[in-house]
Amino acid sequence: MSDSVFSKDILQGKVAFVTGGGTGITGGVARAMAEHGARIAITSRKEENLAAMKKLIEDGGGECFAVAADVRDFEAVQNAISKTVEHFGKIDIVVNGAAGNFLCAAEQLSPNGFGTVIDIDTKGTFNVCRAAFEELKKSKGQILNISATLHYLATPMQIHVSAAKAGVDAITRNLSVEWGRHGIRVNGIAPGPIEDTEGMKRLLPEPLKEKITKKIPVGRFGRIKDIENAALFLTSDAANYVNGVTLVVDGGQWLLGTSLG
Ligand code: COA
Repeated sequence: MSDSVFSKDILQGKVAFVTGGGTGITGGVARAMAEHGARIAITSRKEENLAAMKKLIEDGGGECFAVAADVRDFEAVQNAISKTVEHFGKIDIVVNGAAGNFLCAAEQLSPNGFGTVIDIDTKGTFNVCRAAFEELKKSKGQILNISATLHYLATPMQIHVSAAKAGVDAITRNLSVEWGRHGIRVNGIAPGPIEDTEGMKRLLPEPLKEKITKKIPVGRFGRIKDIENAALFLTSDAANYVNGVTLVVDGGQWLLGTSLG
């Protein structure tokens, strides 16, 4: 927090509902928002991830309400939104970070495997936006969708995630147009390769790291902190006129080709 480039109260008084907020990039975003004044509701399928993040946020002096839900289940999402409103009285910011990912060649991927990632990433994002709409309309709030750059060109072994995130970007653009008139801003972030996540540790064999670093124009992998900073900017008043944008935070990597191999 002490090294934050932002004033510590930029999200003061806001309530943020963060899916996938237990771990990884979105966990970092939840923590950063708490450190900058927001009260946080986190939701995830896994109770143990929620408990750990809640403790982390509270240990840092923040307020956190944890509620388990699978974003694929619309009723469970509605329940998580209602419980958050009961607890904090409102919702100003929704962060859609819940995602599923694994490497699999298209010819080996089952239709259910493809559909599972679409259900978590794309339908899950819609479910949460849809369930939060009335609250966001009241608060003139905003949505931040965590996307990717995988689908800008093509990424082998990632057909399911590429298709899912293309859908997420479509949701960002469509809702920004449909809901802008209600005062709701809808934006996204497309992280490039972020080194300090479980996903990257799992998906990226260590020997490839040096090779990939050379493919990143700024000469380094991204860090969760880079995404936190983008999220703080986009959800703060500094971005009041930014709507319908997916901000690429990848050091320029996708411009040289998205394939990491
Ligand atoms: N390779 C190929 N197919 C896979 C797979 C893999 N590594 N992991 C899951 N699938 C397929 C399953 O085989 C299944 O299809 P099938 O019924 O035709 O066999 C389908 O996906 C659903 O899998 P299941 O494990 O039952 O779904 P789930 O809802 O419990 O979990 C994921 C889905 C994606 C979340 C799970 O694979 C997972 O835990 N991934 C790692 C964690 C993760 O993605 N974290 C987010 C990082 S961004």
